[in-house]
Amino acid sequence: MRSLVLASLALVSCSRAAPGPHHYLTIDVDAIATARDATTEPVDVIEQTGDIAVIDFPEADLDALSAKMDAEHHRCGGFLLHDTLAEAEATALPARGPVDYKLDHGKVLGEILPELDEAKILATIRELSAMPNRYYASETGAAASTWLAARWRSFSTRTDVTIELVDHGYPQRSVIMTIPGTTRASEVVVIGGHLDSITMRGRTGAAPGADDDASGIATLTEVARVVLAHDYHPSRTVKFIAYAAEEIGLRGSQAIVKDFTKRKIDVVGALQLDMTNFQGSDTDIWLMKDFTSPVQNEFLVRLIDTYVKATWGLDSCGYACSDHASWFRAGVPASMPFESRMAQRNKKIHSANDTLETSGNNARHALKFAALGAAYVIELAKGELHAKLASNR
Ligand code: BES
Ligand code: ZN
Repeated sequence: MRSLVLASLALVSCSRAAPGPHHYLTIDVDAIATARDATTEPVDVIEQTGDIAVIDFPEADLDALSAKMDAEHHRCGGFLLHDTLAEAEATALPARGPVDYKLDHGKVLGEILPELDEAKILATIRELSAMPNRYYASETGAAASTWLAARWRSFSTRTDVTIELVDHGYPQRSVIMTIPGTTRASEVVVIGGHLDSITMRGRTGAAPGADDDASGIATLTEVARVVLAHDYHPSRTVKFIAYAAEEIGLRGSQAIVKDFTKRKIDVVGALQLDMTNFQGSDTDIWLMKDFTSPVQNEFLVRLIDTYVKATWGLDSCGYACSDHASWFRAGVPASMPFESRMAQRNKKIHSANDTLETSGNNARHALKFAALGAAYVIELAKGELHAKLASNR
C-alpha cells in the first residue's frame, strides 16, 4: 500500500545538484538497481521495510538518478532526500510495529460476554428480514441504511461516537459507526457485514436475506450495543461497518477500502460477519482460509478457544465471496468466520426463502459469532469500560 511513487513529493526534481557528500534516500525497492546504475560508487541498502528502502547515495549523481528514474520508471523524482539517517528511517518504517495479538483483556470481556443477548440478535434479524428487500438500488434498500443508523444511534448519547451514511452514488448507503481510540487512535479495527440482500428471481422481488446477511448485521449490532452500554473506550479506534451493495460485486466495501487507502487510514484488522445464524455443520465456526490472513485467523482460533468455547474448523470459499476480500486485496489482515462448512451451506440464500425459519426462529448460532466479534474488538482494540452496568437495554 505504501509507495514512494510520488513525483510531486520528491524533493529532488530533474535539476542539477551541487557536488558534495552522500545523502540518505528513501526509494522504492524496485528502483534500487536504477540507483546503482546511476553512479559509479557503491550504493548501500541500509534498511528495507516492505517496498521502501533506505540507501546511501552520492550527491553528485542525484541528477543522473533523477533522469534514470524518469526514463526507466516514469518517475521524475521518485525518491526522497533526507539530511539524517533518522529522518530516512522514519519515512521508511511503518508508523507502527507489527500487531501484537496477545490476549490480556479477559477482565473486560468478563463484563461484556454475559451481556450479549440472543433475543436482541433475533429481534434485529426479524426487523431487517421483514423489509421487502434490501437491494442496493431499491427504496427499501436505502431505507435499511437509515433504519440501521438510527438503531446504532440509539445505543449511546456520546458525542465522540459518530455515525456516517456513506453515499456511493446509488440509493443504499453504507453505515459506519466510529468509536474513537484513546491512546492509539490512528490504528483502526474494523468489524463489518453487508446490509444488502438480493434475489435471483427478479432483482426487486422479496429478498428477506435473514441469513445473508441480516444475521451478520444483527451480530455486529449486538456487539455495538453491549460495548456502548458499558461506555467502552478502546485504545485503538473501532469502526462498525454495514457495507452497501455487497451482493453485486463487493461494491460498497471496495469503495470504502479505496477511500481509506487514499486517506492512509491504518486498518490493523478487519473481521467480516456474513452468514452467522444457520448451523449447517456440527462444528460451530468455520474460518475461511482464502482471501484472509493466516496470522489473524490464528488469533481468532485463540479467541474462540478462550472466550467463545465453541468448536471451529478451516474451510475455503474458493472465490472472493464477501467483503473481507476487499480488505485482503488492500493488504489489510482480514478474516471471515462462517456459520457452516461450505459443502453444508444454507441453500436458501438469494431467494424469498432466506427467512428465520431456516435457522429455527432462534439466534443461538449467531450468539457465538457475537461473542467472537466482541472478543475480536476488545482484544484487538484494547481499552477499557467506563460504566459497569448496561444502560441501553
Ligand atoms: N454471503 C454470501 C457469500 C457466501 C455464500 C459465502 C455461501 C459462503 C457460502 C455473499 O453475500 C454472496 O452472495 N457473495 C457473492 C459473491 C459476491 C462477489 C457478489 C456470491 O457468493 O455469489
Ligand atoms: Zn449473498
